[in-house]
Amino acid sequence: MSCGGISHAYVIFGATGNLAATKLLPALYQLHCMGQMAEDVEILGCGRTPYTRDSWQEEVRKQFVEAGMAESPCLASFIQRLDYLSGSLKDAGFYQALGKWISNDGECANNVIFYLSVSPDLYVEVTEGLAAANLLDETHGWRRMVIEKPFGHNLESARALQHSLSDHLKEEQIYRIDHYVGKEAVQNLLVLRFANLILEPLWNRHHIDHIQITHAETLGVEGRANYYDKSGGAVRDMIQSHLLQVMALLAMEPPVSLQSESLRDEKVKVLQSIRPVDLEQLATHAIRGQYAAGEISGQAVPGYLQEEGVAPGSHTESYAAMKLYIDNWRWKGVPFYLRTGKRLKERRSMVAVRFRRPPMQLFHGSGISQPHPNWLLIGIQPEDAVRMEVSAKVPGLEMRTRQIVMDASVGHPGERKAEAYEELLLDVIKGDRSLFLRYDEVKAAWNVVDPVMQRWGEDEQLPLQYPAGGWGPKAAEKIFEGSDRAWRHSLSCNGDE
Ligand code: BG6
Repeated sequence: MSCGGISHAYVIFGATGNLAATKLLPALYQLHCMGQMAEDVEILGCGRTPYTRDSWQEEVRKQFVEAGMAESPCLASFIQRLDYLSGSLKDAGFYQALGKWISNDGECANNVIFYLSVSPDLYVEVTEGLAAANLLDETHGWRRMVIEKPFGHNLESARALQHSLSDHLKEEQIYRIDHYVGKEAVQNLLVLRFANLILEPLWNRHHIDHIQITHAETLGVEGRANYYDKSGGAVRDMIQSHLLQVMALLAMEPPVSLQSESLRDEKVKVLQSIRPVDLEQLATHAIRGQYAAGEISGQAVPGYLQEEGVAPGSHTESYAAMKLYIDNWRWKGVPFYLRTGKRLKERRSMVAVRFRRPPMQLFHGSGISQPHPNWLLIGIQPEDAVRMEVSAKVPGLEMRTRQIVMDASVGHPGERKAEAYEELLLDVIKGDRSLFLRYDEVKAAWNVVDPVMQRWGEDEQLPLQYPAGGWGPKAAEKIFEGSDRAWRHSLSCNGDE
């Protein structure tokens, strides 16, 4: 068999879990249909459920159809790539069987991607199992390991994890995935900033008042309570990884090139320059909440503590907001407000950049109290859009102004948006690590959130309760400390003066 270019196997640990079903297998399917997969690539699902090759293929086909995918020749040929190996990740025999599967596949399968879509406490065990069976050795092709976040559950455990992984893997073999960085709109931040000149002169403390980064979800823990309640919480699950990455991309200096090290060098500088959160003033710098029962789109939903799998009286936060400062020349004194929450009013992720107000009011006696600031709004999801709010005169005899929007939807009609995992899974094959996190980035991000989580851990009070279907705890407004700032919940215009 001739390999002709890149030829490889994807081995997914945790193949029967939620991530594989909703993201990984659909992304691989798209790559297959777009002709991005060499013909002899196989995808091996690994899990404890005792599927055979046939029953696994049938299960995935069923999942796809239930998710609304039409039966098609493309789906049929994709399904043929799937194989399954059942066993316990704690059992040495499982890795022996895996070794057989890999070598049985001939020369072409010697490039192998191991995807760890399992509970974070299994990362070391799986790595050691693979190493003991000699499956991480790269003599006959590359071996790459994709590791889902969270990388550790705090700074100390991240260090220990890194230490254990590096006993068996070279840094070039490790792909710490943060799927948020693979989102089209997040990558567009780089293009917006560095393929255009108009923003750069304004992109600093002299012109920007503050920046808000929001990731809001209507979903609750959705059957993931086992992971979320123990290893997650809004800070670990979203802020430590995804939102700090967005902040780094927004705040970083132009990289020398888009080569992985240049990009990551600039991001890490931002993360390392974040001022430690003021623990003496925690209530105005970091706020946590937990959803109570409420309504989402007219449907009653239970509170976090009533969700199946959540420990009674759990203190895990499903909402968190943080105010962070970057102590460098460009950003000194500019607050970055990050927030995320489950069971909020809308599903929306966006960046809102508020510029300073013009220095004086020219329109005295016109009824306009003070000049309106400009906003740059960047929609990440569901809309991928870039909007600029500016003041304009309302037609008529009076000198009245209103905010108007310069609106650019990023995609053109008919263009398909790539899912984050498609791009990232392709990058692993290509060996391009630029969108994956380097250990020093992860470490710097833990440095930011760890003291806050520790302080919260000592607090006996439950996180602030907020009704499902709202915008989180009222106290989250305190983060603005009486200034004229407030959360932006949407990309819609702020309206007339
Ligand atoms: C994941 C978190 O990393 O990101 C989830 O574990 C969260 O809790 C998800 O819902 C959000 O990402 P997306 O792409 O689904 O909006």
